[in-house]
Amino acid sequence: MKRTLIVGNWKMNLDTSQASLLVHRLEERIKIHQDIEVVLAPSLLTLQPLSLQIDRRKFRLAAQNAYLKDEGAFTGEVSFTMLRDLVHYVIVGHSERRLYFHEDLDMVRDKVAAAIRNEITPILCVGETQVERRAGETKQVLHDQIMSALSNLTDQEVSEVVIAYEPVWAISTFSGILAKPDEVKQALVFIRKQVEDLYGSRAAKKIRVLYGGSVDDQIVGGYLEIEGCDGVLVGGASLNYHKFSGIVEKAYAVKHAPEKESDGEDS
Ligand code: PGA
Repeated sequence: MKRTLIVGNWKMNLDTSQASLLVHRLEERIKIHQDIEVVLAPSLLTLQPLSLQIDRRKFRLAAQNAYLKDEGAFTGEVSFTMLRDLVHYVIVGHSERRLYFHEDLDMVRDKVAAAIRNEITPILCVGETQVERRAGETKQVLHDQIMSALSNLTDQEVSEVVIAYEPVWAISTFSGILAKPDEVKQALVFIRKQVEDLYGSRAAKKIRVLYGGSVDDQIVGGYLEIEGCDGVLVGGASLNYHKFSGIVEKAYAVKHAPEKESDGEDS
């Protein structure tokens, strides 16, 4: 059975003591669930102290970014190699990195490969902008982002990757524009189909596909109920312990809803 993946992307928020306090609050509220995996992606600076603080039965850690080379003269960067004992996951290709730090398709591809090389699971973010959506280019954008990002991997490696569908127009809108579950479903189906066409049905079945974009505890159920949605990537709401623990509870409720009980997906 696949575990539902709930990832909290704290972005550039919370210093060391604030991060520690949030983890403390979350630990009080979040229970250990065998079938839910809760991942925290704090700033790089706080990964080390949090790795000592967290209850590993409840939480895993992710980095929000890393550099594609393993070591060398790259002032200011931190490599996947340096993170490999600290984190299970690294977010790669987030739209904010593509936009503000000019990460192009080649760089995202090389970061995905660097993550795999260092035995860290990449959470590859893909998604179209509003302009691309209006121009009817959503599928083309998703196709290009997925195809290039996974191009250096074997079928087996691809099956370990997590893909997060994050339409750029729905990220951090703070109750503004939300992607409708129907729209998300279409994109998730398309993403899995791309993986199937390129890497076969085994990889497509095994790969985990998430949704992200202004998800909070009130609306998360609508996304998690989508067939083939393996979890959510949460930004703003992951900084609020009521909302984030509410999301985890909701994920548990969806997983254990009567009609899901018989849903025996393999891993
Ligand atoms: P959001 O962020 O939940 O604030 O929209 C999601 C993300 O960017 O990962």
